[in-house]
Amino acid sequence: MFMSKWREGMNPAGKRSLLVVAAAATAILLLAASQTTLDAQTDGKAFNNAADDNAKRMAKEGKEIFRFDTFGSEAFWGDQLRLHDAIQGAQHGGVGPGISPKKALELGLKVDMEKVPGAVAAGIKAGRVNLDDPANTLLLLKANAVVGVTGFFTDDGRRLRSVGFQCALCHSNVDDAFMPGIGRRLDGWPATDLNVGAIVASAPNLKPLTDLLGVNEATVKRVLNSWGPGKYDAELNLDGKGFRPDGKPAATLNPPAFGLSGVNNHTWTGAWGNVTYWNAYVANLQLQGSGVFFDPRLDDREKYPVAAKARFGNKRSPVDMVTAKLPALHFYQLTLPVPKPPRGSFDSSLAERGRVIFNSKARCATCHVPPIFTEPGWNLHKPEDIGIDDFQAKRSPDERYRTAPLRALWDTQKIHKRGFYHDGRFSTLMDVVNHYDRHFILRLSGDEKRELMEYLKSI
Ligand code: HEC
Ligand code: HEC
Repeated sequence: MFMSKWREGMNPAGKRSLLVVAAAATAILLLAASQTTLDAQTDGKAFNNAADDNAKRMAKEGKEIFRFDTFGSEAFWGDQLRLHDAIQGAQHGGVGPGISPKKALELGLKVDMEKVPGAVAAGIKAGRVNLDDPANTLLLLKANAVVGVTGFFTDDGRRLRSVGFQCALCHSNVDDAFMPGIGRRLDGWPATDLNVGAIVASAPNLKPLTDLLGVNEATVKRVLNSWGPGKYDAELNLDGKGFRPDGKPAATLNPPAFGLSGVNNHTWTGAWGNVTYWNAYVANLQLQGSGVFFDPRLDDREKYPVAAKARFGNKRSPVDMVTAKLPALHFYQLTLPVPKPPRGSFDSSLAERGRVIFNSKARCATCHVPPIFTEPGWNLHKPEDIGIDDFQAKRSPDERYRTAPLRALWDTQKIHKRGFYHDGRFSTLMDVVNHYDRHFILRLSGDEKRELMEYLKSI
């Protein structure tokens, strides 16, 4: 309206100068356009450099997120469950005896030695730091040295006001370089000592969990305390199944979060989505972070009554602290390698014979396809395919078990400390081999089993 009036009233000279201005403006626009082209990285060199930079940046950011990001989960674990009050104890304004560093280590929590202040480290070495005093747990939390746990302190730094968790809690260990439980971080290693059930059960306010699951506090505690070290139940919040029909705990082992590149289905049962699906699921519905999560399958009232009632299939927190972190988090996990067996930890000539058995007579490689040791493609099997019960499989969308990518089977000190298969039902590799020998009627001789074992230890 305003523009057209202005034009109508213009003389010819004015029109000419307008043309000049228009030409200049076009030139500027063209220049800007070529600039935009460069910024848009349609230039091959710029794009390739951007890809390299992206890889470095995502690995770095993803590591920070995996180790330190709580996704706002303190609003649940601290503000609601008041776990921080159980940690600091009555002496520091919380409740109960508090969790001393000794108790924290007994519960399987780990300490990152690189974050422990020098004076504290020297004090521990000299026996001057009282590991029975919860005040020293607060000291470690303040230094951000407790793996997978972030303490939020009052302004004067004297009291914990909240506590949040990270991915590293259940998917990290330490190398014990300082002392057992205190060392350098091992990202992606399963937390096989962590008794997360006992930690949660110690929360002063379990009402959010009793409300969610529709059971009383004693039942919630009984379920949480049944898990034991190295285990967690990542589907309890969906189907509310506290125990298996045979009365055993419904929890599964914390799996490694390394060696996942090239693996399609993930978790013990698969069929949820890909790794980044699960990351979003955990950040939103397990860690109880603040974010957005969508999966209408969780609206199934029969299969997932708890999730359907709580509307977990369509979570929209007012502030999204998860989604923007998914790309880097996913990328970082894929960079985590499978730890190699130490030299001399297996007999290489027996292992070579075992490799042949794995690939032929024992038929292992039909499912565990080297070198990723799971099937490229839809790597899921019915429970009867591997000769086990269907309880855990039934809780997943496809009701199957995922061909576990065989990773670092040599390490039964840390990684496979709690056994093999989703619930650790086989405590040794030989038990696994004997199970397959029976189930597939392989008729492996004693020597063949030993050779196969040596090969498994070499993977
Ligand atoms: C409280 C313990 C706990 C925490 C915290 C946790 N996880 Fe897990 N994670 C598990 C368990 C248990 C499973 C196996 C679940 C199943 O099979 O049902 C699992 C499975 C996984 C898998 C699949 C691994 C595989 O072998 O396919 C990935 C990936 C993963 N978690 C990533 C994460 C990320 C990322 C975070 C942080 C956002 C996280 N986890 C936080 C316990 C935890
Ligand atoms: C039909 C497919 C199939 C065949 C054949 C098969 N596996 Fe498995 N394997 C699986 C599945 C599925 C799992 C996961 C079981 C679970 O999570 O409870 C698994 C799990 C394992 C595990 C446990 C891994 C872990 O991290 O806990 C080992 C070890 C293993 N298999 C070794 C073998 C060996 C050795 C053979 C040959 C004798 C073999 N498998 C043959 C499908 C197969």
